[in-house]
Amino acid sequence: MCGIVGAISKDKNIVPLLITGLENLEYRGYDSAGVAYFKNKKINIVKVTGKVNKLKDKLKENESSNIGIAHTRWATHGKATTINAHPHKFKHITLVHNGIIENFNILKEFLIEQGYSFKTNTDSEVAAAILNYYYEKYTDIDKTIQEFMSTIIGSYAIGFIVDNDYENIYCLKKESPLIIGVSNNTNMISSDIRAILKYTNKYYILDDFEYAKIDVSKVIIKSRTGDIISKELKEYIDEDANSSKGHYKHYMLKEIMEQKETILKTALPFIEDGINSLLTLPDLTKYKEIDIIGCGTAYHAGLVAKYLFTELTNTRCNVYLASEYRYQNNFLNKDTLSIFISQSGETADTIAALKLVKKKKCPNLGIINVKESSMTLLVDKCLYTKAGNEIAVASTKAYTAQVTILSLLALSHGYRNKTINKNQVLEVLKEFKNIKTLITPILNKKETYLSIAKNIYKEEDIFYIGRGLDYALSMEGALKLKEISYIHSESYAAGELKHGTISLIKKNTPVLCSATNDKLNAKTISNLKEVLARGANVYLITNTKIKDDSFKIINIPKTSDFIKPILIVIPYQLIAYYTALLRGTSIDKPKNLAKSVTVE
Ligand code: M6R
Repeated sequence: MCGIVGAISKDKNIVPLLITGLENLEYRGYDSAGVAYFKNKKINIVKVTGKVNKLKDKLKENESSNIGIAHTRWATHGKATTINAHPHKFKHITLVHNGIIENFNILKEFLIEQGYSFKTNTDSEVAAAILNYYYEKYTDIDKTIQEFMSTIIGSYAIGFIVDNDYENIYCLKKESPLIIGVSNNTNMISSDIRAILKYTNKYYILDDFEYAKIDVSKVIIKSRTGDIISKELKEYIDEDANSSKGHYKHYMLKEIMEQKETILKTALPFIEDGINSLLTLPDLTKYKEIDIIGCGTAYHAGLVAKYLFTELTNTRCNVYLASEYRYQNNFLNKDTLSIFISQSGETADTIAALKLVKKKKCPNLGIINVKESSMTLLVDKCLYTKAGNEIAVASTKAYTAQVTILSLLALSHGYRNKTINKNQVLEVLKEFKNIKTLITPILNKKETYLSIAKNIYKEEDIFYIGRGLDYALSMEGALKLKEISYIHSESYAAGELKHGTISLIKKNTPVLCSATNDKLNAKTISNLKEVLARGANVYLITNTKIKDDSFKIINIPKTSDFIKPILIVIPYQLIAYYTALLRGTSIDKPKNLAKSVTVE
């Protein structure tokens, strides 16, 4: 993961530019942060553990430079300590790195044999040392970078500066994203154009095995063989310029509330003109099977789609965790459409899985939120979720936007393959148009969620159960709670508890459940009775009238299955939020996590 930024300017102090860039890149990690810049012709390095705010405090206010690089870290090799923080300086080379150097141990041994010694156990220090090794050997930057690219196994986006070279920043990349932002007299590098939009929206995208030399007025991009490459200068149009928290205490709460708009915004292109609009979605009838691939919350959105495709459109659908998919036999063939779901479009495992499908020239489709992200450039076709900037690490509005697209995709498919008739389609479209009215009362039940949170926030283990679609939702509910409250929470198929897990149920163990399927509700209720009999406290989300004092019930309206997942997940999101709030955790940036998971 990690975020890197660098800047060189003829007439600006770049230190504030680097800090703003890092603040905007914190979604990529926030274990430690650091900056390196030329000061009186010497490289000055300042590092801290923790978030960029701490770095800002540590830097003296009048710190000034016209060239520097900076980093916000999500620790992989080596703990989140100051010494392990970037930038790493190895003799002539000072570097920031995002990615993983897989052969760093072998390279380290080789360098130790050459008389090198290391201060850290990071792979990035080895990357700096290798660059230094070739730089001392060839005294030529092009040759140094080219040799480095041939030597390194792994992924990297690297920015570096060289002692006594006050006029250039160098950068290179393989598999980790890197862009070069361009403006008058100031050029920058960044993991993400959105991090430097305050300074420029014009940028070059660096492709794998490309590198660049950047000064105040020029950007020279080269291939791994040293040939100059002429690239398209892109322009980023920011549709979500307003990313402030507004009156909300946390981005997560703001983003949960924004679902009133984001679901409709995502759906609108496919519903506004009735069935005609719906049929602008890709025709899936030419495929025999659908594979859906994603990680975390995106994977959970895929599980919802599996239910919709299999149960409602009679179409085979498999869902895979990208981290598993990339190392298994996937029986890839041209009759299977692979759908890749990602908020960031930068998730390393999902990208790797997508590359496998592309290598076999098999059809693929992306459902992605971030425009111009790496995955959008790779997929055959992309359907954009219109969730807007999702800043909280816990995904909420991106999930419901993903479910929206998937629901509409299943609906259009059902219409095309005649498993869903015209009236049913029109009914669902009407529900989508009416989504704000359907979800606003659910969003507004703060007191209900808060009172549940008060009952559960001191617990150590919480279980989420459900059947069918409700089971898919319970997985998302459990993930939301554990990632922001740090309470151990697990999801189980309701019928599976008695095969082992029920032994963990004891007096007052919270069990959260949704039962929204008329055919399965009675079965689920029986399972709830079983945990109640063992002392559990049960909280039930349902769209059916259930009169039972032994459960705490949250009612949601009855709708079609295409809308239902959106309604079920909102109570789960808000229970997680208020529970974390009572526990006083870092809700928007939970420990050990990052918004964008760009390493394996
Ligand atoms: O950016 P992506 O959608 O590819 O990210 C996938 C997961 O890392 C992400 O959904 C993660 O599970 C969320 N933080 C969960 O809230």
